[in-house]
Amino acid sequence: MPEFIPVLTEEEIHKKVKFLAHQISHDYNGRQLVLIGVLKGAFVFLADLARELTVPVEIDFIWASSYRTGDTSCGKITLSCEMNTDIRGKDVLLVEDILDTGKTIVNILPALERMGPASLKVCAFIDKKERREVECRTDYIGHSVASGFLVGFGLDYSGKYRNLPAIYDLKF
Ligand code: IMP
Ligand code: MG
Repeated sequence: MPEFIPVLTEEEIHKKVKFLAHQISHDYNGRQLVLIGVLKGAFVFLADLARELTVPVEIDFIWASSYRTGDTSCGKITLSCEMNTDIRGKDVLLVEDILDTGKTIVNILPALERMGPASLKVCAFIDKKERREVECRTDYIGHSVASGFLVGFGLDYSGKYRNLPAIYDLKF
């Protein structure tokens, strides 16, 4: 059984989500926003963030999967960016659970850019810097960590632990 080292409590997460939502609502004041969550991990963060925003939002999701087994990624990413929402001419915020190597975001952004949004920014709840391989834009970050493999609040290990309300560093 792995050890779960606490990283952020439910209360700390809530405070950070509120802080981000305040910043985003301020920056997009008077405008409308399309939130695009990256499945599966971002579904919890997006649901919390959306409910704290004071600007009107539309919500959609795209799929990204990085052929991960356990805690390692081979760097190949499959994307499915089919959405019902037409983002042409709209302000779009891409919502991710965690930035690790940066490859997922770097692959998604050009696909969304081709759909002609008025603006496109990135919001990730966790910025994990240790394994960053490609430079990618990060406009809003909830919390930065140096390293570790995190679970909870949408983050999984082999499909499990996404439903934990707090975030833990998994130690084997
Ligand atoms: P990147 O493409 O390497 O930046 O990885 C991003 C994706 O890998 C995230 O959306 C997560 O699904 C997954 N990931 C990276 N680090 C972790 C972690 O510490 N815990 C759980 N999932 C992670
Ligand atoms: Mg993810």
